[in-house]
Amino acid sequence: MKTPVQIAVTGAAGQITYALLFRLAAGDFLGPDQPVVLRLLEVPAAMDSMQGVVMELEDCAFPLLRGVVTTSDPRVAFENADYAFLVGAKPRGEGMERKDLLEVNAQIFSVQGKALNDVAHPDVKVLVVGNPANTNALIAQRNAPRLDPSNFSAMTRLDHNRSVSLLASHCSVPVTDIRRVIIWGNHSSTQYPDIHHAIVGGDRATSRVDRQWYETLFIETVQQRGSAIIKIRGKSSAASAANAALEHMRTWVAGTADGDWVSMVIPSDGSYGIEPGLMFSYPVTIEDGRHRIVQGLDIDDFSRRMLAATEAELKSERDAVAALL
Ligand code: NAI
Repeated sequence: MKTPVQIAVTGAAGQITYALLFRLAAGDFLGPDQPVVLRLLEVPAAMDSMQGVVMELEDCAFPLLRGVVTTSDPRVAFENADYAFLVGAKPRGEGMERKDLLEVNAQIFSVQGKALNDVAHPDVKVLVVGNPANTNALIAQRNAPRLDPSNFSAMTRLDHNRSVSLLASHCSVPVTDIRRVIIWGNHSSTQYPDIHHAIVGGDRATSRVDRQWYETLFIETVQQRGSAIIKIRGKSSAASAANAALEHMRTWVAGTADGDWVSMVIPSDGSYGIEPGLMFSYPVTIEDGRHRIVQGLDIDDFSRRMLAATEAELKSERDAVAALL
């Protein structure tokens, strides 16, 4: 048996983690030969509730689960962490402005970035799920100068999966027939779900769908899917978000399939004219644990406008938290 890997998860009493932790402990992330230790972080007020989740983890008697650490101290949670799922975040409260939300989360992610910097494994892979995810990831990354910036990421995999599923259902094909969709930009309603380069079976997606459907219904449905679920379910997406977080990290470790890519928020290197350093969702291929932005895609005027809008939002988010960068 291999040495256990250390997986830190924040927001461990929340609803996404309730769907995520059991899959991590069952081996869905790193496979049936890799034991894990879960290092769970919560705010002090939620420690009791987190303890209930730990009791359930114990009751599963997962063979791969070699230990659970619970704490409200990020330096304990991230000690020697190989992987960090940063799910916990402050939700928007009654009467809270977007700027206040950005600031309160910026505080959380600057503290967590510093702790990762000081105590995590030097190659730790960090995924930020908690919103506003791109900007939270930017703050964590900027507060961790010891770590390679490319080890920080945020999640648009749920939006990517939603696009795959919607396109498959519209074209009446299985999801396995869909490749190369892209989510560009911010994990917010300005995100740009792009099917210009997507493949449906052996065809270009653009030859299978009506332009009008794509520009209006498809894009808006993906952008607004989170709100639509809250409206119907009364709660935000949890199991699908947990699944996407697991898939994001699994692909980062195992690599992308031949002929396909995934969407991932990573630091911009200036590709496609996006300001370097912004945490921006790009199409990436992954090999040996390293992601590379897919280069050379044609960007038409429509796409250029969509990219500019989501980049502008990310710049304004960044400017709102400039003091913590
Ligand atoms: P939740 O409210 O059920 O759980 C969040 C948990 O985080 C709470 O238990 C809270 O006590 C904890 N928390 C707050 N501050 C913390 C801190 N400083 N350290 C550790 N834990 C802390 O929320 P849920 O539904 O699990 O969602 C979590 C986050 O994920 C939210 O910000 C949500 O907007 C975001 N999200 C992101 C998605 C994406 O695609 N990127 C998709 C769905 C949700």
